Amino acid sequence: MPLWNCRDGYGSVTKTLHWVVVALFAAQYASALTMTRMGDGVRAAGLSRDDLYNWHKTLGLVALAVAIGRLAARHVGELPEWAPSLSPAERHFVHRAEQVLYAAMLIMPVSGFVYVMAGDYGVAFAGVVELANPIGRSETLAAVARVVHIGAAIVLAAALAGHVGLVLRHTLVRRDGLVWRMLPARR
Ligand code: HEM
Ligand code: HEM
Repeated sequence: MPLWNCRDGYGSVTKTLHWVVVALFAAQYASALTMTRMGDGVRAAGLSRDDLYNWHKTLGLVALAVAIGRLAARHVGELPEWAPSLSPAERHFVHRAEQVLYAAMLIMPVSGFVYVMAGDYGVAFAGVVELANPIGRSETLAAVARVVHIGAAIVLAAALAGHVGLVLRHTLVRRDGLVWRMLPARR
């Protein structure tokens, strides 16, 4: 398998980063939905609410770095040809959904970061390094960033449902092996 994308398929860098982002986003949704609904003194999987907030912020910033790497990798080599089994309408949908997914990969962590910095909650990266606040305190900015963060999470979830739904429908119902375009061994 080539390192970079080429006309024949995605390279190993794109494939690896695709699944790293999937794992990070799964952790982000799981931690967010747990930490915002936990009572005081409750623990989930051995972690306190503060621990979960910390890991949510830390992994979110890691996800930002991975998303930037992924966008950069997209400009190396050539983008693969469309899967022949996709209809023109599906190609249009895939293209739009991928634009939303890329935008969300950047908007989610940036809005989260702006929210916690403008709200003066801070980020203790991996629980060890207290990051400097480059934004300063602003209640208005924090409120706007929070609405953007939660709103973008809903839009992202809808785009993901469409993205995964299309891949699964092709792979399991039409049996054209679409998912293999993003897996290590191409069929
Ligand atoms: C990169 C991907 C990220 C995803 C997918 C994500 C996802 C989410 C979701 C779904 C929620 C809403 C939970 C709810 O109200 O039901 C949330 C809340 C939150 N996120 Fe993120 N997040 C990300 C990155 C970040 C980052 C980088 C930070 C901070 C540095 C952050 C800080 C927060 C905070 C503080 C909340 C709680 C907001 C509240 O008070 O309700 N997030 N996140
Ligand atoms: C956080 C979750 C996900 C995000 C952000 C995401 C994002 C993307 C993006 C942006 C692409 C376009 C390729 C590129 O330019 O890098 C893509 C392609 C692809 N994704 Fe995902 N994806 C996610 C989850 C999934 C899941 C769970 C599956 C499997 C069911 C999947 C299967 C695929 C496949 C097979 C392709 C190649 C489609 C083609 O070119 O025909 N993705 N994904």
